[in-house]
Amino acid sequence: MGITRYDEVGYWSELKLDIVRKYAQAYSTVLSKDARIRRYIYIDAFAGPGIHISKQTREFIPGSPLNALNVCPPFSEYHFIDLDGDKAKHLRELTEGDPSVTVYNGDCNQILREQVFPPARYTDYHRALCLLDPYALNLDWKVIQTAGPMQSVEIFLNLMVMDMHMNILWRKPEDVSPAQLARMNVFWGDDSWRHRLYCKPKGLLPGFEKMEEKVSNAAVAEAYRERLQQVAGFAYVPAPMPMLVARLSITCSLHRLTGRGRRSYPTSLTGTVKGGPFDGDMLGH
Ligand SMILES: C[S@@+](CC[C@H](N)C(=O)[O-])C[C@H]1O[C@@H](n2cnc3c(N)ncnc32)[C@H](O)[C@@H]1O
Repeated sequence: MGITRYDEVGYWSELKLDIVRKYAQAYSTVLSKDARIRRYIYIDAFAGPGIHISKQTREFIPGSPLNALNVCPPFSEYHFIDLDGDKAKHLRELTEGDPSVTVYNGDCNQILREQVFPPARYTDYHRALCLLDPYALNLDWKVIQTAGPMQSVEIFLNLMVMDMHMNILWRKPEDVSPAQLARMNVFWGDDSWRHRLYCKPKGLLPGFEKMEEKVSNAAVAEAYRERLQQVAGFAYVPAPMPMLVARLSITCSLHRLTGRGRRSYPTSLTGTVKGGPFDGDMLGH
């Protein structure tokens, strides 16, 4: 296998994996009972290699793609995307022989809009559950803006507030590099964040009227939540769940739908981490 190092994931990442796994299970259960629905697909746009190492137990654990593959009844199709060639190759090897799985190696911002979303048409009674779980602010608003009006795509989004704090929402906005500003504009969809994510402190003394400070994490998440509804057109966007002091997970919900039998994937993985690259035999494949 091409992968030489696995991500070590902490408590919050394991909790996130568990939430998405349970939601995907509930989603499939509901949609499989809706006779109108012809296909419902699972999309993991920042998929990773399919396996991580738990910081708590030091054991291998399934990543979000493998968790989705274990959902029963299964989704009609699975689309996994990763920019990293080794991770995509690893995922391809893990899922080899499963005709319901397509693994893409490339930028999900392009692949989602050009290949994966278009067949998930509401009017064809197709539906999709899509996980957007990047490390940083490398999601293009165009992806969100494409999915919203489709009304067939339900999204879990991990909003990386930490990246905003570290690189963009500085105390002195004039010091932020043009490249970082451009990155934030691509993520937000325009530059309106500049007004939405800064505010004037109360009781400013004369001479300090231009002073601004960034809003709280909760206010950042709420501003993005508002955009998901008001600009992207998602019908229902529940309040986000904070995952860490500086990381928030936002869910934007929409619709539901059916599936059938498949091969089984491991629900837990055991093996020694020190032993080097993960051996696929441990998966029982
Ligand atoms: C946080 S990890 C995903 C973990 C996975 N969701 C899980 O829980 O098992 C983020 C992944 O996104 C990938 N990535 C980063 N930018 C990307 C892009 N533009 N398109 C597709 N994948 C990307 C990285 O290589 C990395 O594997």
